[in-house]
Amino acid sequence: MAGELDTRTRGRTARGRLRALDAYLCQFESALLTRVEGAWARAVFVDVGFGEHPWTTLESATAFRSLSPELSVVGVELEAERARAAASTHADARTHFREGGFALPLAPDEPARLVRAMNLLRQGPPERIPEAHRAMARHLLPGGLLVEGSSDTDGAVLVAHLLRRTPDGDTPVRERLLFHTDFSRGFAPLLLRDWLPRDLRRRVRPGEPVHAFFQAWEAAWKAARAAGHTLPPDAFAESIPRLAATMPGIAQDVWLATHGFLCWSPPGGIPP
Ligand SMILES: C[S@@+](CC[C@H](N)C(=O)[O-])C[C@H]1O[C@@H](n2cnc3c(N)ncnc32)[C@H](O)[C@@H]1O
Repeated sequence: MAGELDTRTRGRTARGRLRALDAYLCQFESALLTRVEGAWARAVFVDVGFGEHPWTTLESATAFRSLSPELSVVGVELEAERARAAASTHADARTHFREGGFALPLAPDEPARLVRAMNLLRQGPPERIPEAHRAMARHLLPGGLLVEGSSDTDGAVLVAHLLRRTPDGDTPVRERLLFHTDFSRGFAPLLLRDWLPRDLRRRVRPGEPVHAFFQAWEAAWKAARAAGHTLPPDAFAESIPRLAATMPGIAQDVWLATHGFLCWSPPGGIPP
């Protein structure tokens, strides 16, 4: 089932690891999760690479079904034994587990509304990442979302690409970069830099837009601390308007700031 883009990896996962991401998606993508017109009635949520146990898939299924009770969910694993074990214990009429890779084992009449691939593009050549994004986005309906990124083992620090399928072509638009921390590791912008998706991590060097972004965030965070906001959640929240004053595309939203999220959607998309 593995294609030439797929690379075998370990299956480590943890309960709750992607819960904050679920909360973000319920808050900002509820329209995507609940659409039912035309082909959207059949459109599934796909969790690619769920790991040794399908905990994150099942947790997301519960979160998303609080908005859309009939939502179908497909957990995909490169390792056949993990797919088989999950299917034998956890499958039901709307919850499926299948062996497969980035090409996604979906039926022709089974489009996707949301595809998530967290913590599996950490190995292999970074040059292959746009190809992997295109492959996973191919089943999305126009307007559908691909979420791909990295987190630490318990999800205390997480960074993800949000890529949107448009009606115009196979290459999804790199719409937004999402940063999250629960502050259990304290906070400084550099903490999040270490969890950038693989294609951006090697770009943090002078002259690159993502380097300029972190320089600006670091300066905004230091200014917030100098103004007396020394507790990590305060310094984080207060860095956001300061960063927005110098960097285009920073969302200013109370829910985001109070839940430890920063969203960057620069005009023209996240630079490759
Ligand atoms: C580190 S675990 C991550 C589990 C879960 N997504 C999480 O964030 O906790 C990565 C899993 O992705 C699977 N995997 C790696 N590449 C894959 C691919 N191309 N398609 C499907 N699954 C893949 C691996 O077999 C492994 O079980």
